[in-house]
Amino acid sequence: MTAPLSIEINEQALQAEIDHLASISECPGPAVTRILFSEVDQQGRDYVKGLCAAAGLELRHDPVGNIFGRWQGSDDSLKPIGSGSHIDAIPNAGRYDGVVGVLGFIEAVRALQRAGFQPRRTMELIIFTAEEPTRFGLGCLGSRMLAGSLSSAQVGALRDKEGKSLDELRLGAGIDGDLGTVRLLPGAYEAFVELHIEQGPLLEMEDLPIGIVEKIAGPSTLHAVITGTGGHAGAVLMPVRHDALLAAAELALAVEKAALESGSPDTVATTGVFTIEPGAVNSIPCSATLEIDLRDTNLAARGRTQEHIEMAAGQIAHKRGVQIKTSLFNADPPAIADAKLVETVEQVCQDLAIPSKRMISRAYHDSLFMAQVCPTTMIFIPCLRGYSHRPDEYSSPEQIKTGVKVLASVLAKLAG
Ligand code: HGY
Ligand code: MN
Ligand code: MN
Repeated sequence: MTAPLSIEINEQALQAEIDHLASISECPGPAVTRILFSEVDQQGRDYVKGLCAAAGLELRHDPVGNIFGRWQGSDDSLKPIGSGSHIDAIPNAGRYDGVVGVLGFIEAVRALQRAGFQPRRTMELIIFTAEEPTRFGLGCLGSRMLAGSLSSAQVGALRDKEGKSLDELRLGAGIDGDLGTVRLLPGAYEAFVELHIEQGPLLEMEDLPIGIVEKIAGPSTLHAVITGTGGHAGAVLMPVRHDALLAAAELALAVEKAALESGSPDTVATTGVFTIEPGAVNSIPCSATLEIDLRDTNLAARGRTQEHIEMAAGQIAHKRGVQIKTSLFNADPPAIADAKLVETVEQVCQDLAIPSKRMISRAYHDSLFMAQVCPTTMIFIPCLRGYSHRPDEYSSPEQIKTGVKVLASVLAKLAG
């Protein structure tokens, strides 16, 4: 019977790395912004690759910029264990979303090395390209392509707000190669485990240090383009107006109403992008564009909610004499975690006398797509009042240390 590993996490070193990465940002601290293939994203990638190299991980990247850091196992005949997350950050975000899973893996490897552990199975970090939808409006670009769930036509059609294509941006960042080769071969990994902050309040409310994800809600994105009649704010009298902004405002309220009345507690809908033209104080808005984030763990409820939103759009268009064109930009199924892997994480927590609970992730993650590739689950740690995607996102060094300790122990169990 081998002696149990004494895994010691250096939370001070890890926190310093989290803070340094947070300083590599397009906006002043404490907020963090790091958008795919921006200057700052490339600096962030270089910094993390430096940490990987210093930990002895073999580095490579694929044609869409997913970065892989490999700790070679002693038995090449065994499939590797994957882990990882993302380091891109939406505008005005926090410093822990995604980063805890990437830098936490590197610290887990260092702690296992300090404990004298040698993996039989290779352990591989994946730093996924563009988990956030900021650049192209589509989240999980890197993991989606690894899972083969994005056709080359869809990839080729991606454009950012300046009309730049993925090819233009990735080649500009020095990343080339055939995008058709990104898809992982079946059986590429034995299992995938992602460490992430909960981005919700449940663990903190129940004073629990660890969550184990059984299901990830399915995200979808609807677009609505509203065309009204512009005109002079002084000269056009109220009864004859067809104000695009007001129609859009009614539609945004209808989105909220449809989610509240969906009959499912897990339906969430957010009009996160709302733009109008021409945007002059003395000109009646002639057009508006909405991007609507609609999610549920239950596809039927999500579908019903989408139908109600589309019906409301028709009624508003008729009532206000505007045109409203809705379209489904993207829709992904929910992911179910692997039951055996969930049990493994639960057992590790019990062995470490760390309380845990099984839960749903309402945020999506790269694990949503890795679950299409191999058995997958996630380890959650609490974050302050569930805050995320905002500068006051926070998990304490202690909470992060516990998450990394569980991750290291799970990886050792799976790779040992
Ligand atoms: O939006 C999400 O759920 C993820 O944080 N990108
Ligand atoms: Mn996020
Ligand atoms: Mn995330």
